Amino acid sequence: MPELNFDKVLASLKLRLDEVVDESEFDEILKEYTGKDSLLSVERKNLSNLSNEDKKVYGETLNNVNKSIVTNIKKAKEEFINNKYASLEDEENDDITIDWITNTGTHRHILSQVMDEVVNIFASIGYKVAYGPEVETSWHNFDALNTPDWHPARYESDTLYTDNDLETLLRTQTSTVQIRHMEENDPPVYIVAPGRVFRSDQLDATHSPVFHQLEGLAVDKNLKFTDLKGTLEYFVKQFFGEDIETKFIPHFFPFTEPSAEVLVKWKNGEWLEILGCGMVDPNVLNHVGYSDEYQGFAWGVGIERLAMLKYQVDHIKNFYDNDLRFLEQF
Ligand code: DAH
Repeated sequence: MPELNFDKVLASLKLRLDEVVDESEFDEILKEYTGKDSLLSVERKNLSNLSNEDKKVYGETLNNVNKSIVTNIKKAKEEFINNKYASLEDEENDDITIDWITNTGTHRHILSQVMDEVVNIFASIGYKVAYGPEVETSWHNFDALNTPDWHPARYESDTLYTDNDLETLLRTQTSTVQIRHMEENDPPVYIVAPGRVFRSDQLDATHSPVFHQLEGLAVDKNLKFTDLKGTLEYFVKQFFGEDIETKFIPHFFPFTEPSAEVLVKWKNGEWLEILGCGMVDPNVLNHVGYSDEYQGFAWGVGIERLAMLKYQVDHIKNFYDNDLRFLEQF
């Protein structure tokens, strides 16, 4: 029975594999060792000259050798590719995690900075911070806030629901935190609630389906519209500067009565809306079990809108693109 020295074949294969410098060589090697001109094929052809018994034994040996050759080549190829990427990573990638820690020039995202600034202004006049969940019940987002069943904000075209019964949703406003806080706490209440909100909006220069709001709520005895006005005027001056002019114009929100929008006069003389506000509707206070002796005022301000005005950002998507050339300016 012919005996090719297969140890030698495999040893020579190993040497050959160690020398590979380009990925394409693996296919050539496979052809060299198992293709039709390979030693293995020649041996296979010779099988027909053997006795049946020998044919079986030697045929099996040849198959095993074929298998070892194929596996060795496959393994070597995988290793080659892994090494290639590992060294590419070493050569071409900076370790940004290390850079992040040692680079003292880093700072918070502009939206976080603005949010912090707004929270701090209200904290400085006694407001505490409250949080609520982003996935909300329809009750907290609409019903408890005195929103009638027919209100367009409830439509699926405006609100992102997370179930088929329209019972749970991604909150469309931070006003939900008013309800959650009052359900858990007795008056008086002075809170601000920063957070992310979601709407089924197309992205355009001033709208994004995900954006940030800061909600405010004061509930106490003897609160009047003048308290609301004074508080918000104080905030606007702290944020934009003493010279900023503001005006309140009537508006409608289901959860406040009366309701207003606050506009600020911008550098080009244009009036721009920055927040919604009003005296808390007594229905809302009833929903959370507060007694009639309490009144409240509330507001909701868009953080992106504030940041766009203050820093003259002309498209909302700049905040989310995370282009360092934009972010590093703040
Ligand atoms: N939730 C309103 C919105 O998202 C903003 C708002 C208006 C909040 C009036 C209030 C308020 O608390 O009193 O458009």
